[in-house]
Amino acid sequence: MKTKVCIIGGGPSGLLLSQLLDLKGIDNVVLERQSREYVLSRIRAGVLEHGFAELMREAQCGERMDREGEIHEGFYIAHDGRMDRVDLHRYSGGSSVVVYGQTELTRDLYEARDRMNGRVIHHAEDVKLHELTGDAPYVTYRSGDELERVDCDFVIGADGFHGVSRKSIPKGVLREYERVYPFGWLGVLSRTTPVSPELIYAKHERGFALCSLRSQVLSRYYIQVPLSDKVEEWSDEAFWDELRRRLPEEVSQRMITGPSIEKSIAPLRSFVAEPMRHGRLFLAGDAAHIVPPTGARGLNSAASDIHYLYHAMLGHYLNGDDSGLDGYSAKALARVWKAQRFSWWMTMMLHTFPDSIDYDKKLQETDLAYLFSSEAALRSLAENYVGLPF
Ligand code: APR
Ligand code: PHB
Repeated sequence: MKTKVCIIGGGPSGLLLSQLLDLKGIDNVVLERQSREYVLSRIRAGVLEHGFAELMREAQCGERMDREGEIHEGFYIAHDGRMDRVDLHRYSGGSSVVVYGQTELTRDLYEARDRMNGRVIHHAEDVKLHELTGDAPYVTYRSGDELERVDCDFVIGADGFHGVSRKSIPKGVLREYERVYPFGWLGVLSRTTPVSPELIYAKHERGFALCSLRSQVLSRYYIQVPLSDKVEEWSDEAFWDELRRRLPEEVSQRMITGPSIEKSIAPLRSFVAEPMRHGRLFLAGDAAHIVPPTGARGLNSAASDIHYLYHAMLGHYLNGDDSGLDGYSAKALARVWKAQRFSWWMTMMLHTFPDSIDYDKKLQETDLAYLFSSEAALRSLAENYVGLPF
């Protein structure tokens, strides 16, 4: 098989780039290890920056997001038994975020690929990347017993943190930066009316909690748990009791509980791999960087990678201009690190740390006190949360 751009990974990053390139007549193929059903079974976050929403519309995939997604102009931080609202609309100069589940977004991307007869190959086993530093890279993979080959101009590594692409860059070339947090998030999805029309990030001495939603009949909640916890140790009842303990009484009293339809524990890490390019290979999304979900930056960090790569490919194929490709890694990393900083800051401010000394606890309290006493601090939070410019 021959194509211009071979994209490894059929998650949101890979599918969005595939769709954008196809709309401009730039031939591409997506190689996805799992089945579509498996990819769509993953429960992920649900806050889209303004820029991501615009990119989905540009990719002609934004119709259901605009119909079913919710525009949110603020969220709450609960602490010390009280609720303080972060007015995103006011402090970001009129912007907002869209609350729309990543699973649904990925479904929309798959359906758009189908409408355009896009080539998304599932069950692509044992993907290997070859000749990345030459002019004629190629990718091999197994489909059943058959060994297949894709000759291409460029390879996009959109295969997530555990993918093969980043690992195809020689160790001596790649620099990795990582911070692992001493806790995880236990998440529950339930067909219940959300406790709040806007998200609530809760700082509590028992641990962090988050009240989010997917729609007015589908709630998404999280509580911070020790890394040693196992999801099977948590009954629904125990989860609801602990969640309510961490919320102000005015909120916990009106909590509507119900059976969990999904329950899982995810570890938290901050991670960046540099550079995001090696020869004809370009990394995008989770393949290159991971953030703790506290700042809702995961998918949104991928969006700017895709935006830069898309325009770089347009420059190459339509204008013979390689400046976008040559500048991609530096440009993408500049914004990635700002998302890393914001996600780290939100995580450090709102979670309890097992080895935290009293001085650190006072700093956390002061961070919150400063935030709600300073318009400049609120503007800083708001501009990061709605999304820094691409
Ligand atoms: N070969 C082919 N496909 C692979 C391989 C491989 N060796 N390894 C992984 N994949 C596929 C995975 O099955 C997955 O569908 O690559 C895809 C990567 O998708 P994501 O992990 O969702 O990464 P990305 O598309 O960058 O989306 C980032 O997803 O994990 C969340 O918080 C993250 O919201 C962020 C978003
Ligand atoms: C979610 O709805 O899953 C969600 C929302 C905001 C976050 C993290 C997760 O910061």
